[in-house]
This record gives sequence, structure tokens and C-alpha cells, in this order.
Amino acid sequence: MAAHKQSDKPDILFISGSPRARTCEALVGLLEQGAKKAGAKTQRFCLSKKRIHPCIGCGACEKTGICSLASRTHDKQFLDDYLELKAVLERVDAVALVAPLYFAGPPAQLKALLDRMQPYWAQRYRLGIKPPAKRPAQLFVVGGGGDEHGYTPLSITTKSAIAVAGFTLEKVNNFIGFAAPRDAPIYPPDSEAQSLSHAQLAKLKRAVSEQAAFTQRALDAGSAFARYVVKKKEAAILTAQLAQVEAELAVLNEVGDARHGDARQGDVRHGDAEGRSALSTEGRSAEGRSGEGRGAEGRSSAEGRGGTENRGANRTESRSAVRTEHQAEIDLDYSKLIISVDKGDE
Ligand SMILES: Cc1cc2nc3c(=O)[nH]c(=O)nc-3n(C[C@H](O)[C@H](O)[C@H](O)COP(=O)(O)O)c2cc1C
Repeated sequence: MAAHKQSDKPDILFISGSPRARTCEALVGLLEQGAKKAGAKTQRFCLSKKRIHPCIGCGACEKTGICSLASRTHDKQFLDDYLELKAVLERVDAVALVAPLYFAGPPAQLKALLDRMQPYWAQRYRLGIKPPAKRPAQLFVVGGGGDEHGYTPLSITTKSAIAVAGFTLEKVNNFIGFAAPRDAPIYPPDSEAQSLSHAQLAKLKRAVSEQAAFTQRALDAGSAFARYVVKKKEAAILTAQLAQVEAELAVLNEVGDARHGDARQGDVRHGDAEGRSALSTEGRSAEGRSGEGRGAEGRSSAEGRGGTENRGANRTESRSAVRTEHQAEIDLDYSKLIISVDKGDE
């Protein structure tokens, strides 16, 4: 795994949705261990220690996008940890919600937390505020087991509420039947084990190994989720870097085009200048021919060459002068040199 700067490490928020500090919190601990090992930073919000007041359906958020309960600080009954939760939720890269099953759904305390996501719904669907890109979330379902009604209400409610808060519920992990460490079965000392029947001992062994398997499953699930989030964050960083490089390239292209355009214009100007200079030289030469100048060209003229021949001779002379100069200076392909000289001459 690639080494990450602390700032590059993704932050995963682990929420324990149980009103008590038992199985869900034990599972949060194991998931966090796995996640940290896989290169993530972790945050915890446990409803056994925090208070979230239920939504009162006042509808204020539909006009303001903000929960009115959070500003009712003068009224003690509404004082809660909503703003802390909101700040963390808006900052993290992913959420892991560990929830106990209460009659196939969430306990009231967790339902209250999920209902307080309503301002995000209002921002998006009432006020037209564009939501940020969706981040991944997973649900870990904890239950005593044996309830035929399953956990669909819990997963659907979670999925719906966290979607408006900017998360996609990508996976539901079934941890029903997992005992909290304090309730986990342990082997009795040999002295006590001798008093157990063969069947009792076999049942105990099975329960201990099942519990060990759950623990390992929890560690693995935490690290698998974190590895996924780490990769997602790496991909997001690379995408942002790529976008920046592409933007820089576009600017360089524009500058290059402008320079090239300038250069082309420069070539034209240069060519024009050379052309004009050639013309004026020829002009002078012509003047020389008329006897007013006594330069080399004039001499050529005086030597009785015709204008056309003279121009040709001048070109040949200047070519050979350039050739000599360049041959001495650089190891350049001769034909290319001629081409460039020809271009310059034309
Ligand atoms: C009111 C109530 C309803 C429950 N309903 C279910 C249920 O429908 N299915 C289930 O598997 N367990 C159910 N349980 C058991 C809890 O989900 C289980 O004890 C779980 O471990 C609680 O998590 P915690 O230990 O973190 O509080 C229920 C418990 C309570 C108190």
C-alpha cells in the first residue's frame, strides 16, 4: 500500500446508533482498528454519549436550508450535539453506520439523527442548492437475531436519509448474532471445564470460535471499507491533479499558439524585412549599376552582369557565406541549412 501523508488519509466517520455502549460500539472499535490499519483516519459519534433532538417538522429548513433547532440555544430542551455531527458529516470522506435492529428498523435515537438530515433535503429539493459529489457509506446491522422480519426497514431508512446528506449507501453488512465482547463466551479454566458435559463443552467451543470469526470479520470489513475509501480518495486526488495539469497544458497551448502565431507573423515580418532588405539591396545594387554606388553589388553590376544574373550571384554568395558560417559553428545537416537559407531568401 502506498504511504500517505496524514492530510491525504481519508477520514471515515463511525456512528454507533445504539442508545447503549454495547455491541454496536464494540463493533465500531473493531471496524476502526481495521480501517486504521488500512490507512484511514477515523472519527466516532456514539449515540450512547451524544444527544440528537428529534426533528419537530417546523418546516423552517425548507425556507432557510438550516435546522431551526440548532439556533434555539436559549431553550435547553433543544440543546444537543447536532452541530458537532453536522460539521463532521460535511467534512469526512465516508461514513460507517453501525446500527442496532429495533423491530426491523432503527432505534428512536438513531431515527432522530436520520430525521435531522431534513435540512439537506430542503437545500436540494426546495432551495435548488447543488449537492456535493456523493461519498461512500456502509451500514453494519447488529441484532440479537431470530426476528423473521429482517432489516429492510433499517437499510431503506438509512439509505434515504444519508442520501440527502451526500452519501451513497453502497453496502449493508449483516452482523446479526454478534455478541459484545463483555457478553462473548470464553473457555472456562480446565478445573471448571471438567464439570461440563461433552455437549456443553462442544457448544461453548463453537460459540467461542464463532465469536472469533465475527471479530475477524469485523476487522476485515473495517479494513476492506477503508481500502476502498483510500483508493477513492487517491483517485479523487489524481483526478484533481490531472484536471490541473490539463488546465496548465491548455494555458501552455494558448501561449504556444500565440507565440507560434507571433513567430509566424515574425517570420512573415522577418521575411518581409529580408525581402525588403533584399529588394533594397538589389535596389542599391541597381543604383550601383547606375553608377551612383560603388559597393560590391555595384562592382558586380559594373562587371557587366545583368540584373537577374546579379541577383542570382548575390544569392549564391550570401548562401555560401551562411553555409561557411554555419558549417564552422554547428554540425548541421547541409541540405537543411540550404532549405532554411532558401526560405529566408524567398
Ligand atoms: C426494542 C428492541 C427491539 C429489538 N428488535 C430486534 C429485531 O427486530 N431484530 C433483532 O435481530 N434484534 C432485535 N433486538 C435486539 C438488539 O438488536 C440487540 O440486542 C443488539 O445487540 C443491540 O445493540 P447494542 O448491544 O449495541 O445496543 C431488539 C432489541 C430491543 C431493545
